[in-house]
Amino acid sequence: MSKGPPTLRLDRLLSNLGYGTRREVQQLIWAGLVTLDGDVIDDSDQRVYVKPDLATRMIVDGEPLDPAPGFALMMNKPLGVTCSHKELGPLVYGLLPERWRRREPAISTVGRLDKDTSGLLLMTDDGALLHKIISPRSNVSKRYDVTLDRPLRGDEVKLFAAGTLMLEGEDKPLLPAQVEIATDRRVFITITEGRYHQVRRMFAAIGNHVNALHRDRVGGLALPDDLKAGEYRLLTEADLEKVLEARV
Ligand code: URA
Repeated sequence: MSKGPPTLRLDRLLSNLGYGTRREVQQLIWAGLVTLDGDVIDDSDQRVYVKPDLATRMIVDGEPLDPAPGFALMMNKPLGVTCSHKELGPLVYGLLPERWRRREPAISTVGRLDKDTSGLLLMTDDGALLHKIISPRSNVSKRYDVTLDRPLRGDEVKLFAAGTLMLEGEDKPLLPAQVEIATDRRVFITITEGRYHQVRRMFAAIGNHVNALHRDRVGGLALPDDLKAGEYRLLTEADLEKVLEARV
């Protein structure tokens, strides 16, 4: 027998989505402010199927329900915000609706971009999906638009493709990376690992310096041109397939 979608009690679902404590969401439900397919549900114990389409079928206090558990989004991360739940200063989570920060399970970034790196950042509340995307076995590539301080030496394409480059303080060489040259100070680099400050350290290792770093692609998913810095958009199944499509 195939396993259907999971069910949750309505009060548990809403409190997990950050609408309030169990008590507070019960008040909402008992007040008749929650509807499913147009019908009021005033029984807080009622179990509902947790499926992506709930967000279009359920209305809470006049507004469509937030994304159901098990969702993912892409953000165009601006410069100056940090991929962390606890550091001081502006955080990527601060760019999401306030209620989403109280969700359980919490939303996390899929890997990280440095504070000074912009571009395509994925986020999800689905731990299994997160691990699948970052697992070395999935071989998900990441492409960066890199602006360099000094002109290219000329051997970067070969050197990075060789799979022998060693980063300072590490004892395992980097996997091969692809470099496409745009100008003598601008390249697109595609890597499959996610080591700490990897792209900046790769160029530091060959005597250059990264002045600007922007991620424009994860797997086969490109950052849409119309997604402005600081904006985000939910991922569709098709987007997720593109993320996981092995490219390199
Ligand atoms: N490499 C870096 O140096 N920084 C990032 O944010 C991502 C890759």
